[in-house]
Amino acid sequence: MAKTTSHDVRDLALAPDGVRRIMWADRQMPVLTAIRERFEAEKPLAGYRVAACLHVTTETANLMRTLKAGGADVVLCASNPLSTQDDVAAALVDEFDIPVFAIKGEDNDTYYAHIQAAVDHKPQLTMDDGADVIGVLHSSRREQLGDIIAGMEETTTGVIRLKAMEADGALAFPVIAVNEARTKHLFDNRYGTGQSTIDGIIRATNVLLAGRKFVVAGYGWTGRGVAMRARGMGAHVIVTEVDPMRALEALMDGYEVLPMGLAAGIGDIFCTATGDKHVIAREHLEAMKDGAIVCNTGHFNVEIDIPALRELAVETREARTFVEEFKLADGRRIFLLAEGRLVNISAAEGHPALVMDMSFANQALATEYAVANASSLENKVYPVPFDIDEEIARLKLETMGVAIDRLTDEQSTYLATWNEGT
Ligand SMILES: NC(=O)c1ccc[n+]([C@@H]2O[C@H](COP(=O)([O-])OP(=O)(O)OC[C@H]3O[C@@H](n4cnc5c(N)ncnc54)[C@H](O)[C@@H]3O)[C@@H](O)[C@H]2O)c1
Repeated sequence: MAKTTSHDVRDLALAPDGVRRIMWADRQMPVLTAIRERFEAEKPLAGYRVAACLHVTTETANLMRTLKAGGADVVLCASNPLSTQDDVAAALVDEFDIPVFAIKGEDNDTYYAHIQAAVDHKPQLTMDDGADVIGVLHSSRREQLGDIIAGMEETTTGVIRLKAMEADGALAFPVIAVNEARTKHLFDNRYGTGQSTIDGIIRATNVLLAGRKFVVAGYGWTGRGVAMRARGMGAHVIVTEVDPMRALEALMDGYEVLPMGLAAGIGDIFCTATGDKHVIAREHLEAMKDGAIVCNTGHFNVEIDIPALRELAVETREARTFVEEFKLADGRRIFLLAEGRLVNISAAEGHPALVMDMSFANQALATEYAVANASSLENKVYPVPFDIDEEIARLKLETMGVAIDRLTDEQSTYLATWNEGT
């Protein structure tokens, strides 16, 4: 029987499966576990209400447990309608007494009603993956803005939006850009998204990647992870970019670089990873080969022009779970995965726990930092403090059993001089 009465999840009977999987993930999250044990003793978040809007996965469950161990009163809703793991949502309510509002496949109205329910919790701290709670607070719930001491933001797209709000003078409280920590984006965005995106594509389609033309749009942190792993599976990878520096990097990393206008007619599998809109536009869809598979791993489902695809189609059907077939007038078929939403979290389980350990260690420590420093923070987007980032890297290596060298005194002196060693 659920202890918290406040929740909206698929089925509490799923809780035992969720608990098993949360504990499995926990084994891969030793840095977060160490933080949880310290939080348990020190209670740095005692008395603070937190509204978290994150993908409801096993790793997120372990972050919620950590915040609660630190004394926070936490509520969780989903940051994407398709990413919720219903057994995890049930377990958080039933086993860990944490209110959750999230059901996999919820419609848009329910999705936003669940964010409102999290805001009803009267948070003093927010934790977003895509700035949805912050968006709601700054639009329909402005009367609560004064209660918030700080927010945390997990992903690139959210940080871009928050920086735009800061530039407009619209941001009403300080936000810590967890995505900007090197122990976050260098690993989560690259290796986490790289592996789990390929996992999502394969789980949805069972397609062979070897020998196929795999088009990755965007060569940022996520795009390079996807490209790297697709190449590892034997695909011929083509990268599209708008930034000359990143296009050059892709080229010298050994990929073919083309504009989407040319790649569209060549590719077998397309994956967008840009955070931008209509990267695969109508004219690109019109040029695609019969059987092309298109998907997205960027934050919002706007990277592929799905309305145009619907207009172009004379017939649609579900070909497999998470695969929608669009038949065009000339008989060609295009397959869209996971409604164009984050394919790695919709059709697979999202990032492996070992990498989320670092992302969520940043979330937990950034929350502690925000509480401790609330009075000195302005209404700006802040990076995670350098020493927190470094400490997470150090701990991660230690928990992976990897030792590194330390600078000797002689080397420290040498590196700090300008006139020695010629
Ligand atoms: N799937 C996941 O689990 C996951 C994880 C982390 C980040 N993300 C999301 O992935 C997206 C990308 O994040 P990132 O960290 O790689 O960002 P990034 O800024 O490092 O990279 C984005 C790249 O896309 C390029 N780009 C922009 N418009 C383009 C266009 N029209 N065509 C081709 N390239 C274009 C940019 O030049 C840039 O190099 C964001 O929406 C982010 O929130 C998803």
